[in-house]
Amino acid sequence: MAEPVLSFDGVVAGYGGGDVLKGVSFDVPAGGVTCIVGPNGSGKSTLLKAVSGLVRPRLGSIVFQGENLVGRSPRRILERGIVQVPQNHSLFREMTVRQNVELGAYLVRDKRVIAERYERVAEAFPIVSERAGDKAGALSGGQQRLVEFARCLMLDPTLVVLDEPSMGLDPKTLRQMFQTVRRMNEAGRTILLVEQNARQALRLADQGVVMENGRVRLDRLRADGRGHGDAAPRRGP
Ligand SMILES: Nc1ncnc2c1ncn2[C@@H]1O[C@H](COP(=O)(O)OP(=O)(O)OP(=O)(O)O)[C@@H](O)[C@H]1O
Ligand SMILES: [Mg+2]
Repeated sequence: MAEPVLSFDGVVAGYGGGDVLKGVSFDVPAGGVTCIVGPNGSGKSTLLKAVSGLVRPRLGSIVFQGENLVGRSPRRILERGIVQVPQNHSLFREMTVRQNVELGAYLVRDKRVIAERYERVAEAFPIVSERAGDKAGALSGGQQRLVEFARCLMLDPTLVVLDEPSMGLDPKTLRQMFQTVRRMNEAGRTILLVEQNARQALRLADQGVVMENGRVRLDRLRADGRGHGDAAPRRGP
């Protein structure tokens, strides 16, 4: 089995009024695509927020390349190479597309590095080069989603965390979005995503994780994937 880049072990977390995550354990293999599915309110976004340091687990660990992220600041987690595109749109509508993308590199001090990364990202995302000077708010929801992807790559992340990237996309942009996820993965980035569009997402994924009521119900590596071939379903927690 591929080495895990990220391991959840007994993660319990919530927002102060009872636990939302009730002991979540699974591994995210390095270099793969792991897709989390599950009903509304099952804790998928909460789990992703815990990875990014926006929710602090009460119990358990989230180990990324040997470092426990629990208790680390969101900034530290970004510096370690984990970026998240949130479920809700997050561009600054009054700023241009270019300014929004450049903001993604706010932890990078070297202007030359920022310029080089911008060039690379603009090349990979035509929407960025074509609409660089337009206000982000003028783009469609799907175009904004692609710009959000472009922005997250400015930090050259190891792990890209995506919360329902397909939400609200028309079929054409949806295809583009999934292609983009595949390309990010082929570029060597590990992808952890939550997706309601299970059919398309699971086709892309090496591993599927089903969450229900704050627990993992099923965690399965694809038989023809880069993982092991005889994965038995694992019962959570
Ligand atoms: N900021 C918050 N404060 C308090 N409770 C919250 C907060 N965010 C989420 N919750 C609650 O935590 C539970 C899990 O929510 P979460 O957003 O993680 O679910 P989800 O699986 O992502 O659902 P969806 O498919 O609707 O995005 C829900 O009961 C929700 O009401
Ligand atoms: Mg959610």
